[in-house]
Amino acid sequence: MSQSPSQPNQFDKKSEAWSARFSEPMSDLVKRYTASIDFDKRLAAVDIQGSLAHAEMLAATGIISAADYQAIERGMAQILQEIEAGQMEWSLDLEDVHLNIEKRLVELVGDAGKRLHTGRSRNDQVATDIRLWLRGEIDIALDLLRQLQHALANLAKEHASTILPGFTHLQVAQPVTFGHHLLAYAEMFARDAERLQDCRRRVNRLPLGAAALAGTSFPIDRERVARTLGFDEVCRNSLDAVSDRDFAIEYCAAAALIMTHISRLSEELVIWMSPRVGFIELADRFCTGSSIMPQKKNPDVPELARGKAGRVYGHLMALLTLMKAQPLAYNKDNQEDKEGLFDTVDTVRDTLRIFVDMIGGIEVRADAMRDAALQGYATATDLADYLVKRGLPFRDAHEVVAKAVRVCVDRGCDLADLSVNELQSFHPDIGNDVHQVLTLEGSVAARNHVGGTAPEQVRAAAQAMLEATSA
Ligand code: ARG
Repeated sequence: MSQSPSQPNQFDKKSEAWSARFSEPMSDLVKRYTASIDFDKRLAAVDIQGSLAHAEMLAATGIISAADYQAIERGMAQILQEIEAGQMEWSLDLEDVHLNIEKRLVELVGDAGKRLHTGRSRNDQVATDIRLWLRGEIDIALDLLRQLQHALANLAKEHASTILPGFTHLQVAQPVTFGHHLLAYAEMFARDAERLQDCRRRVNRLPLGAAALAGTSFPIDRERVARTLGFDEVCRNSLDAVSDRDFAIEYCAAAALIMTHISRLSEELVIWMSPRVGFIELADRFCTGSSIMPQKKNPDVPELARGKAGRVYGHLMALLTLMKAQPLAYNKDNQEDKEGLFDTVDTVRDTLRIFVDMIGGIEVRADAMRDAALQGYATATDLADYLVKRGLPFRDAHEVVAKAVRVCVDRGCDLADLSVNELQSFHPDIGNDVHQVLTLEGSVAARNHVGGTAPEQVRAAAQAMLEATSA
């Protein structure tokens, strides 16, 4: 034994937590390599919450005394205060948040602190901590998704009859209303919220009681701990409870989709804000200028959000890879679950917060949208539909309109610029009422069914979304 035996009431190094088994100290590099305290101290509050629930159960089942539980409660209250005041001294020697807090507890309350770990292991402890923490973060993300849908629906309601070109292949396709376009994103974020809610059900299960891997020989009451901590269920297999991180992978997958949707929206914001398009202005507070080109106002926030999708996808890949070759049960690989998960949560939270504010501050240039919709033969399909309603098979109508468009392209004019006589030269069934269907307003108003772009439908959809997402 090259190390001194541990003091009766405390351990100063993690090696003293497993004490006599080891005969040589760790190098500083290995210490740093194996430690997680630099990042897992962020779990401190949930770690304490989990420990208190465990201690309460130990006392209720008679495994420790009521006096020990009170001492643990008192010690933990002080530790929480010290952490909040920034006075807690986190030690790399103590590897992680669990050992750091336990050691401080033993310093403060002595033997009662040493009894806390009865019937428990850091393996079920850390799995519990992550689940508790992630549950709270999911609830925050759910609220932000709700706010984002609400902001989109607000703007959509205001622009239920503002017309812009709808695109396929980034070519002008058919006119749509801006409100309709915005509500497409609100739908995506609504599904993202559904996914998070579903994932939350599997996050919200209690690993504690699994101990290291096999359960414990103490007469514990897992249901009691689950109730105290607000878990819906207990994990039903101890090996699975300590080793799987599929709940975190599911969260990261849901987060990756959130960022996909954010990135698509960002792409459009960037395009819409380009002076060549000029459909919207973002508020100055989300943009930056250039250090060399005085005229510039760059949409930094959407561009960064588009870029940040990449790191979130990366964390999902890392977690999947982390898990794929681990034999049962706990392996130290799992310590690598945290940084990626934390960064995913932070990225999603910050992004959603900023977007709620940014969407609320969008200025819409309805004239530019309308001008763009008037170019590119956006109502060609309406003319074809018009002929179909007069008995032409759709394929033939398509052919007739294609010829008319061809003539317009050569002349550099729009379909609506052709006179009724000219239009009749393409097909005799074209009548005096044709210009109604060639207008943008006529085109969107005609698509008056659930899920369609007609202003009436968009107003109703926006209203429903507003009600579903009101605080
Ligand atoms: N810091 C560890 C982690 O994040 C806690 C569990 C350690 N368990 C162990 N047997 N080494 O996973």
